[in-house]
Amino acid sequence: MEFEYDLNNIEKASELVLKSSKSNILLFSGVIGAGKTTLIKQLCKNLGVIDTVNSPTYNLINEYITKESTVFHMDLFRIEKIEEINNLGLLDYLASKNKVIIEWPEIIIDQLNQNYSHITIDYIGDDKRKITIKNR
Ligand SMILES: Nc1ncnc2c1ncn2[C@@H]1O[C@H](COP(=O)(O)OP(=O)(O)OP(=O)(O)O)[C@@H](O)[C@H]1O
Ligand SMILES: [Mg+2]
Repeated sequence: MEFEYDLNNIEKASELVLKSSKSNILLFSGVIGAGKTTLIKQLCKNLGVIDTVNSPTYNLINEYITKESTVFHMDLFRIEKIEEINNLGLLDYLASKNKVIIEWPEIIIDQLNQNYSHITIDYIGDDKRKITIKNR
């Protein structure tokens, strides 16, 4: 499933991600500045997150509350060793039924035991991006 979008129809992209993803684990790949956090902010809006959504680059994990659930948002960019991830309790989050959204998931992707939805964001030019959604 592929979709091209800019900031004017990013809500469409977000709805498509929610509709197409079969897993509660959403992985977001794309180069620095591709728009992972920007799309995730929209996604959280659509999920009914009440809290402010920020990039978890420094704190690694953000937790947001919706009316009926909790959303975990992580950024593994700074992780160098898989052991650091285990210390974060990531495995517990993954095993839960909550939505788990991960930027820079490459370091864990081969070791995931769960099904996941993998969203890749590519630059098309200027403000245009393309998402590709795959269920694994
Ligand atoms: N169609 C688009 N989708 C998303 N972001 C866009 C789009 N067009 C322009 N932008 C801009 O590109 C930037 C994307 O930054 P963002 O922090 O979302 O990227 P990121 O992939 O999360 O980067 P990082 O790897 O550093 O976490 C923002 O400044 C945003 O306004
Ligand atoms: Mg980001």
